[in-house]
Amino acid sequence: MNSKILRRCFIDFFVQKHNHAEISGASLIPENDPTVLFTTAGMHPLVPYLMGEKHPQGQRLVDVQKCLRTDDIDEVGDATHLTFFEMLGNWSLGDYFKKEAIQMSYEFLTTPMNEGGLGLDPDRLCVTCFQGDGNSPKDEEAAEIWESVGFVRSKNTAPDQKRHIFFYPKKDNWWGPAGQTGPCGPDTEMFYYTGKNLENPYEKGGPAENKEWVEIWNDVFMQYNKNAEGTFEPLKQQNVDTGLGLERVATILQGVKSPFETDLFVPIIDKIFAISKINSLNSQENLFPLTEEDKSSSRIIADHLRAAIFLLADPRTIKPSNTDQGYVLRKLIRRAVRHGFKLGIKQDLTKEIAPVIINLYQDIYPELKQNQNFILEQLQKEEIQFSKTIEQGLREFSKIEVTLSGQEAFSLYETHGFPLELIQEEAKNRGISLHPTFESEFQQAFEKHQEKSREGAAQKFSGGLADDHEETVKLHTATHLLHRALRDVLGDHVYQKGSNITQERLRFDFSHSEKMTPEQLQEVEKRVNEAIQDDYSVSYQMMTVDEAKKRGAIGVFSDRYDEKIKMYSVGDYSREICGGPHVSHTNVLGQFKIQKEESCGTGVRRIKAVVNGGESGFEFAKEQ
Ligand code: ALA
Repeated sequence: MNSKILRRCFIDFFVQKHNHAEISGASLIPENDPTVLFTTAGMHPLVPYLMGEKHPQGQRLVDVQKCLRTDDIDEVGDATHLTFFEMLGNWSLGDYFKKEAIQMSYEFLTTPMNEGGLGLDPDRLCVTCFQGDGNSPKDEEAAEIWESVGFVRSKNTAPDQKRHIFFYPKKDNWWGPAGQTGPCGPDTEMFYYTGKNLENPYEKGGPAENKEWVEIWNDVFMQYNKNAEGTFEPLKQQNVDTGLGLERVATILQGVKSPFETDLFVPIIDKIFAISKINSLNSQENLFPLTEEDKSSSRIIADHLRAAIFLLADPRTIKPSNTDQGYVLRKLIRRAVRHGFKLGIKQDLTKEIAPVIINLYQDIYPELKQNQNFILEQLQKEEIQFSKTIEQGLREFSKIEVTLSGQEAFSLYETHGFPLELIQEEAKNRGISLHPTFESEFQQAFEKHQEKSREGAAQKFSGGLADDHEETVKLHTATHLLHRALRDVLGDHVYQKGSNITQERLRFDFSHSEKMTPEQLQEVEKRVNEAIQDDYSVSYQMMTVDEAKKRGAIGVFSDRYDEKIKMYSVGDYSREICGGPHVSHTNVLGQFKIQKEESCGTGVRRIKAVVNGGESGFEFAKEQ
């Protein structure tokens, strides 16, 4: 089954057989959410609805979500790790719970392909459930449902009995919250046996002991909200959040050993080798000296450029830079280019490879083709800039005389982005010896540096996820007022490029080329405060994108015009497509104040603002 059919098959199963509504996947860069840089799971854009907001498409949803996780970036290159991936997911927002969720998952995995499932052999499946702790009891209920479809608890099995159930602790069988606070709960995970001993797949143990058990699906029973104090309180509703990894399942269905050998990657890997030194060696000597290191480099290039291209195609335009998402983008491109060097690709890596990736994915993700010029331009610019960095590093190199210390090497690495392998290679070429403690010294400096960046990342990822704290909700409504006021004062060319809200402030990025004058800032501030004093009531209606557009709503539009959305109205002042939540009356916001206006890339300005002295204990906006 190729990946296109797999995506379709998943969606059709839930839409046609189980009455789910297909929703569009969200942007890779989360909106309104200050706590994470990227969308890391399908549930991410759905947090407000898991917390109890009403979703315009109903209570049963299904989609394919682009995700990016950078925690394991250094592991990419082996047979399994990826940064960018696609997650297939189905959700119940306060509708069905454990019984139906497990039954649906089992049905999809084991129904024959010609009847709309994946046709996996149930004897090669095992599952895990939560073993219980002080926060939540052992998940007997999930285990009993698995028993009802033919699974047995691992401890009670007869020797020839397959389909085991294992109980694991929180670190394995609990999911979320994605930030420090938010929806979470116990989960049940499904694994597929990829080893050879089909007679006794448990010979080397279960998923905890044997990596031949590959996790394919996770059903999370989201029934708790972890709050800022670290306690788990029951959510307003019981939800199901699931995630099936497209790349992993494609690997199994296509009978290969790694996602890089599936149709999601093969054309990319082929092209990388076609332009590499290996191809020229092959044409001269008819050899194929593909080392593990070569394979690893080709995978890093394929993974990283795929991720970079999806980031560059995102509607919330980002470019390589030294902060936040831009920094990750820069790192991905530079690592790809560096591994290109290793394969003898000295220039034009991105120019050669990017079009292959864009062609491969454009049917499913039209934004790649739509933004092709921008993507290629940014990749090439970064590739050239990185080459310059390397040249600069080489100049530094000429200052080194006889031996190179680990500390000097680390500073070349840190200040000039000069990779360690290249440093070693260059030292060898120049006859510079490495100091006896070179490796340990470099390693030490490197670990210290990593610890620092991990701390930085941890800070960035903490603090709550799209929470529904009163201050955040107030600032969210203030953002709509600001958007409207900016368009009235500056013109209709103004539209939202990004929004990020914490409990302390809002940050709004919008399209506008010049610095705003003090008069303009004052005028915008005045208009927002007037809108607050006018005490508009806020409510929403459900409608299609097309209807909302006709009614003059602004906001980020989906490509699917028939898709149902929520349109929030602030009196007759503002109409915007948005997920919510919002305050129900503007006068609870207090005093609106702009703190800063600055540039945020070409043609984009950024405003930071606060609201002070408003009311608390107010109601949230409701459906009209
Ligand atoms: N949110 C769950 C995961 O990412 C489904 O595994």
